[in-house]
Amino acid sequence: MTPIFTVPVSLAERSYEITIRAGLLERLGRELKQQAVKGKVAVVTDRRVARHYLRNVSETIKRHGVQPVPIILDPGERSKTLKTVAFVLDVLARHRFERSSMILALGGGVVGDIAGFSASIYQRGIPYIQVPTTLVAQVDSSVGGKTGVDHRLGKNLIGSFYQPRAVWIDPLVLRTLPRREWVAGLAEVIKYGIIADETFFSYLQQHMPDLLKQVPKVVATVVKRSCEIKAEVVSTDERESDRRRILNYGHTIGHALEALGGYQSMVHGEAVGIGLVQEADLACFQGLCSREVVVDIRRIVKDARLSDRMPRWTPSKVWKAMLHDKKVSGGRVIGVWPSRIGEVCIGPLEKHVFNRWYAASRPI
Ligand SMILES: NC(=O)c1ccc[n+]([C@@H]2O[C@H](COP(=O)([O-])OP(=O)(O)OC[C@H]3O[C@@H](n4cnc5c(N)ncnc54)[C@H](O)[C@@H]3O)[C@@H](O)[C@H]2O)c1
Ligand SMILES: [Zn+2]
Repeated sequence: MTPIFTVPVSLAERSYEITIRAGLLERLGRELKQQAVKGKVAVVTDRRVARHYLRNVSETIKRHGVQPVPIILDPGERSKTLKTVAFVLDVLARHRFERSSMILALGGGVVGDIAGFSASIYQRGIPYIQVPTTLVAQVDSSVGGKTGVDHRLGKNLIGSFYQPRAVWIDPLVLRTLPRREWVAGLAEVIKYGIIADETFFSYLQQHMPDLLKQVPKVVATVVKRSCEIKAEVVSTDERESDRRRILNYGHTIGHALEALGGYQSMVHGEAVGIGLVQEADLACFQGLCSREVVVDIRRIVKDARLSDRMPRWTPSKVWKAMLHDKKVSGGRVIGVWPSRIGEVCIGPLEKHVFNRWYAASRPI
């Protein structure tokens, strides 16, 4: 038996709980009833997730006297648009959803972001519950209340902060996740160890083979600790001023690589994996951490079967893409730099330093 974990996310009157429980999906109807949900619930999902789980989820909901209204989206990032949100809102309106109705987001980060954003604007906000089904969604996107969609001119350009009523995580659903998506999620998990918890980082070093085999107890422990770290950071900084920035470690270079590849060549976590290593190397180059830190990060990223190598872009292309990231302020790149495993600092990166590092680390 894997244990049941609960993680509180403390945000005054917007506080909620994350529950991690193997087999939770089969109990979804009962859990909804405990939330006093009556009438209808919209189940926003994508076609791939629906194929695996929608029938069982709908049945457990019905068994507890609630009517599920499935809203099935095309899978993938290309669905994360205002057009899809309009479609979701349309279904909610046609089914006469009210302020007291509920939305369930059953899927990965794409479904969670669309469902959360739709919930935040339909009738000025109706409650929603995240039921994340990818590793990325379970350890990252479902926690923290950032919702939104992409715009032609930028990823996640349109959105809102809107906290869910609860997050329900069933680690067993990760068994059907494609291998590539699983491994990509490990980059975010490793990130938590680097930014906040050396003991967790050591646990990951020791248990990486079991994690790759998806040993249930190890998966549940890793998801729980990741959620705790994200919840702690979000609780102290809900709207992303300083503290929340640390979650962006590995993402300055990661986002740039994703954008340069046109969001086609790599999935997000693969780009972040490279970012974790390269940003540590850049920190070491600036004298902010020792070489051992870089070595440890590179080793764990490779042990997770992620790439640690920069693709062959020119430095000016990478710099331009980093400047384009929306987390950049006033034309300056603000980086997150490890000082040791478990601790990071925040500081600006000058273009000439970046160029020197780039030339030193890979002669072009
Ligand atoms: N809101 C936030 O704070 C936040 C944080 C991180 C990422 N995100 C967003 O999350 C998105 C990425 O999320 P993702 O990596 O979960 O991608 P995703 O939602 O596209 O899911 C990846 C693929 O896995 C499939 N899938 C999902 N669960 C499955 C399961 N259990 N079994 C089989 N297949 C399954 C999906 O159909 C999809 O094809 C991006 O849009 C990113 O911007 C948001
Ligand atoms: Zn990320």
